[in-house]
Amino acid sequence: MIETITDLSILRERVRGWKREGLRIGFVPTMGNLHAGHYSLVELARQHADRIVSSVFVNPTQFGPNEDFTRYPRTPDADTSGLQAAGCDALWLPAVEFMYPFGVELAAKVHVPGVSSVLEGAFRPGHFDGVCTVVSRLFNQVLPDVAVFGNKDYQQMAVIRQMVADLQFPIEIVGGAIVREANGLAMSSRNQYLSPEERALSATIYRALQAMRDAIRAGTPRAQVEADADALLRDAGFVPDYAVLRSPDFSEPADGEGGARVALIAARLGRTRLIDNLEFDAG
Ligand code: PAF
Repeated sequence: MIETITDLSILRERVRGWKREGLRIGFVPTMGNLHAGHYSLVELARQHADRIVSSVFVNPTQFGPNEDFTRYPRTPDADTSGLQAAGCDALWLPAVEFMYPFGVELAAKVHVPGVSSVLEGAFRPGHFDGVCTVVSRLFNQVLPDVAVFGNKDYQQMAVIRQMVADLQFPIEIVGGAIVREANGLAMSSRNQYLSPEERALSATIYRALQAMRDAIRAGTPRAQVEADADALLRDAGFVPDYAVLRSPDFSEPADGEGGARVALIAARLGRTRLIDNLEFDAG
């Protein structure tokens, strides 16, 4: 039976007890409103650890002033039963006053330079500072051996890996594969904001990512590939923030160069902002 914990001393007691038994602790941080993508992360965590803690905390510091913090969907009962079914042992539910005891304005912030400032970081200033600030606090609270994050947030994963390396958290970071709906739309809590018409159009994002991969492999210049993806999205009614091809370190690869690539898209459809990515080898 999953145990819901709202008191840090109880969480610490549980984790300490498990560690005394020689068990490895896995951690899956979330903002709730969980779906199959999150549950796949819990299942993946089980392959790397003996006991799993998941957290649900809608983190105010990673939302911009005009973003969806207040309307972000909160579904605690469904989340708890879903986590239990996925094999989670403990659900950590910190209150906002506990997470930020000095208040959000006076909270000590964690900033990871470089990778935090491009793409998502450029369109959502301060977003990754909020993510790193809360994830470092969650790591200190849970003290896991391994933490699992979804690859759908490709840049978030890169930022967290850099934070963990730089601040020397003794935590292994594991990435979970993107889980998609039948039409290719990457699962996200924000998908429920989409109207039925928008949901049908949303398949364009994955189609654009696949087209970017295929065009690069066929030798099309990167600038052309990015322009074509932008046009495909605009024709379908999206307003893209970016549709770009990058190397895994976010540098801009030269045309004709082989190796690992990632196609990244962020685009608005109506009031909903969707992000997705596709990793591939350029050959
Ligand atoms: O990926 C998310 O859901 C959030 O950014 C995270 C890692 C739980 C931090 O609030």
